[in-house]
Amino acid sequence: MSLERKGDHDHEGWLAGQDLTPLESGYLRILIWVDRRLRVVDYLELLESLYYRSNLQFPKSHTEQYDLDNKFWYWYPLYSLGFFSLLSYVVAAVSGALLGFYYVPAVGSAAPGEASIAYEQIAFVMQDLQFGFMLRSIHRWSAQVMTAAVFLHMLRVYFTGAYKEPRELNWLLGVVLISLTMLFGYTGYLLPWDQLAFWAGQIGVELFLSIPLVGEWVTQLLFGGFSPSQATLQRMYIVHVFLLPFVVTTLVAIHIGIVWVQGIAEPH
Ligand code: HEM
Repeated sequence: MSLERKGDHDHEGWLAGQDLTPLESGYLRILIWVDRRLRVVDYLELLESLYYRSNLQFPKSHTEQYDLDNKFWYWYPLYSLGFFSLLSYVVAAVSGALLGFYYVPAVGSAAPGEASIAYEQIAFVMQDLQFGFMLRSIHRWSAQVMTAAVFLHMLRVYFTGAYKEPRELNWLLGVVLISLTMLFGYTGYLLPWDQLAFWAGQIGVELFLSIPLVGEWVTQLLFGGFSPSQATLQRMYIVHVFLLPFVVTTLVAIHIGIVWVQGIAEPH
């Protein structure tokens, strides 16, 4: 049924002429009210046609071409590692957003001789916050699982030859994604600002200092100095909770969008 835009009055007449239950006519009245203001029906139809157009895969997936829907390799568990990477990323993002309510990126201490405020906040989450230990554990475990899943997903793609034409771009995008996943891990590792974090920061500093010619400049830019400090922690914090979530989410969406368009590769 198409809903032409007439005056409210005309719709009332039209509605009265239909054999509708009170629920149906109530629903239609709301839909017409909203549609007269926001054109939702047009936009829904546009979305629907976009959906059907984008389902025309190019090239046709191997499954579609050879009608392999019922063949076991398609369901081979290793083909779900990409989705598993996505799932663990979502869990890490949600638990990380909740941890963000309690974390403070400060290396200074509340009193001389005490631990950094960053560390104290983590101790608070672990010891005092209701289910805080669980929240932090979920975040750390999902981050580890994501790293493992992404790596194994990459192996699956490699050993089934799924990186070959026409999927080279998605492979390259994957290389960027695995690098950013590791960067997520490194920047997050520094946030508790304990001994492990501090010395991991020092290793990072020295790693970048070893770059010929531009080493000092790059280290200054990334770490805010040549030994871990407040500037370092603040940089790691913003990269971890602001930059990376935006960039990785966008790239994962493009990555999966490309899989949608190209279809899953058959094992070569
Ligand atoms: C955040 C990390 C990643 C996520 C969330 C992700 C997600 C996915 C998903 C859901 C698929 C569909 C097929 C499947 O699940 O196996 C896929 C396919 C693919 N991924 Fe990833 N991926 C990630 C990282 C990578 C990496 C590191 C590489 C390689 C360097 C890669 C290369 C590919 C390629 C080439 C395909 C197409 C495979 C085919 O058509 O069979 N991805 N990815």
